[in-house]
Amino acid sequence: MATVPEVREQHPLRRYSNPAVAFHWITATLVIVQVILGFAFAEFMERGPARSEVFVWHKTIGATILLLSIARLIYRLNNPPPPFPPELPQWERVAAVWNHRAFYFLLIALPLTGLVAVSGMTDNWYTPLIGGIPLPVVPGIGESTGDLSGDLHVVLVFTTIALLVLHIGAALKQQFFDRPGRMAGRMPPFQPRTHEAVVSDRSGAD
Ligand code: HEM
Repeated sequence: MATVPEVREQHPLRRYSNPAVAFHWITATLVIVQVILGFAFAEFMERGPARSEVFVWHKTIGATILLLSIARLIYRLNNPPPPFPPELPQWERVAAVWNHRAFYFLLIALPLTGLVAVSGMTDNWYTPLIGGIPLPVVPGIGESTGDLSGDLHVVLVFTTIALLVLHIGAALKQQFFDRPGRMAGRMPPFQPRTHEAVVSDRSGAD
């Protein structure tokens, strides 16, 4: 009879759903690779075939991040996340919610500013991705608007990196300082969902 409350006591930390965890870790991996590729071609490579190849990968991964982030936003709006751990202070809840909102905004705005930047560099209706897949550009973008969007792209890149540092710092603080010894966070990859996580999907959070 008393089993359910006991389980809740022992596992108050509820995990995100499997699709949410998959979206999170696939996006995280792609964003890290994307930032490295972006700095590589923009700052460190001479013009030439190797740089063009890296740029094509940059556009391809960026377009993938855009599609994934739109799909993830739709999923998120239809699937409330698990509640925060009960002991999480109010200011940390507010910071987490706004950090997550900012990420959704950035992971959609960042690829779009890149696309507008590329649109100002070409007279074609498309820009090629890996395998020659055509990515339609935004029509009517001149060189100066494209350049401006390139500058905005770089500003958003640094904003994203700053938020990433905060996000990772907060996750590590939760994992190792606030809940020492508890290795099960809310977003661990490769871990089965618990009964608690299933229940939490129905209960909403932020
Ligand atoms: C989440 C997705 C993206 C991330 C994290 C990202 C990241 C970056 C980074 C780190 C740079 C180097 C900044 C610098 O030091 O100059 C860069 C430059 C650039 N990226 Fe992206 N990028 C993304 C999506 C895209 C997409 C989808 C496109 C085009 C379709 C694109 C086009 C460009 C261009 C044209 C530049 C050079 C900008 C300039 O220097 O004016 N990016 N990006």
